[in-house]
Parts: sequence; structure tokens; C-alpha cells
Amino acid sequence: MDGSRLKGVILAGGSGTRLHPLTRITNKHLLPIYDRPMVTYSIEAMVAAGVSELMLVTGGTHAGEFFRLLGNGHEYGIDRLFYAYQERPGGIAEALSLAERFVNREPVIVMLADNIYEQSLRSVFENFDRQGGGARVVLSEIDEAEHLRHLGVPELDAGRIARIVEKPADPPSMMAVTGVYCYDETVWDVLPTLEPSGRGELEITDVNNWFVEQGTMEYDVVDGFWGDAGESIDAYYAVNDFVRAHGANKALA
Ligand code: G1P
Repeated sequence: MDGSRLKGVILAGGSGTRLHPLTRITNKHLLPIYDRPMVTYSIEAMVAAGVSELMLVTGGTHAGEFFRLLGNGHEYGIDRLFYAYQERPGGIAEALSLAERFVNREPVIVMLADNIYEQSLRSVFENFDRQGGGARVVLSEIDEAEHLRHLGVPELDAGRIARIVEKPADPPSMMAVTGVYCYDETVWDVLPTLEPSGRGELEITDVNNWFVEQGTMEYDVVDGFWGDAGESIDAYYAVNDFVRAHGANKALA
């Protein structure tokens, strides 16, 4: 993978119902985290880790505000910024399918724009590069089982992911699959085969389980804080409090 043109996709759509009524008047990913809009943290994380070409996928009635905020991306260190519009919320995997021609069967880093990391993701992307194909996810240790019931959770077996369970009633580990995913070109062959889940969405967990079944799924465990600011209003404020006190996307010393 040529680091100078590593491609990234940021997913910033969805209806954000868990943050209603705030998300009736704006897109969830434009809400503030400390002193700037949420989406800028994922852009900063991608750019700091070497992504230079980015596609932002969004939808809904506030999509135009992303242009006002991000423009052509140069101010944020993006060489080429592309936008795609999701006609209706259909899940993370459906949003990703809109980026197929942009990615053009090259390796891609996908990030959910409501995920905030304390530390830089550079080592994750370097590890994916060395991996030479397949997929890579980023896990975070979680203290409370109740929290895991709202996330994707891996079952681990001898240091490998045996499967990932989305929103498990009975979490198979104390780890969450966070919202950064590295894929090789086979991801575009998996997406058309997906069926909507119980919540009527094409699930990124089904994509990831395909790579698990192929034996090509690897992972890193994040150092430091990770939060999904879209999970609930309390999670949103927990992320705000953390970032205000400690910052985000910090380069490792
Ligand atoms: C999504 C994924 C889930 C993951 C989470 C991380 O959940 O489906 O596997 O743990 O992002 O933020 P959602 O935010 O769509 O409920």
C-alpha cells in the first residue's frame, strides 16, 4: 500500500435516533465534541495516520452543512475530498457500498464518524499494511457487560476472533469491536451478498464475520480511551468530558 495515497471512507449518515431531539435539527456527526464538530475528529485521525484521499458518506436533510464545514478538505490536510449521499439510512454496510468506485479495489480504511480515540491509529494502519490483505478491526476493553449489549462483541479463541456478535444479550468477551475497519478489495464482493438484519440494516458485523470465516481477520486492541459518541446521550457526554480533559488522536510518544 502506497502511504501517500491511502484511501479512507468516513461514514457520517444515519438518523441518529438515539440522540433525538438533538438530531432532529442537525446531523449527529455535526454536534460538538468539546470545541468542534464531531466529524472533524475522525478526519483528523485519518489524516494523522496517513490518509490523503477521503470520501465522506452522509445523508438526510443536513448533508449540505458538511460542505460548509469541510469544503474541499485542504484546511484539514486532505488532498482530495469526495462526498457521497445516502438516499435513506440503510446501515453502515449499505453506506460503505456508495464508496465502491472511489476506492476502486484498493485497500481502504473505514471509520464511523461518531467514534473517538484518545490515541493515534497510525500503528493500526501500519499493521494492516504489513498484513498484506484481508481485514483488520480495532478492539477496546469494556468494563461493563451492559455497555457491550449495545455494540459488536468478538468471541476470542486462542488469540483469534472466532466470530463477532452484534448487540449480544450475553456478550462472549469483555471487548468491543470499535468503528474502524481496514479492508482489502474483497469487501466489495461481500457487500452485495448481505441481507438486512433484525433492525432492517446491512450490518458491518456481517461483513467482518465474512473475513473471520475466511481466516483473514486480524485485530489490534486500542491503548487509552475509546468512545462511541452516538450510542446514547450519556455516552455523548462521557466522550465530551474525556476529550475536554484529555484531548484525542494523540501521537504516541
Ligand atoms: C456500530 C457497529 C458495532 C460497533 C459500533 C461502534 O454500531 O454495528 O458493531 O461496535 O458501531 O461504534 P451502531 O452504532 O450502528 O449501533
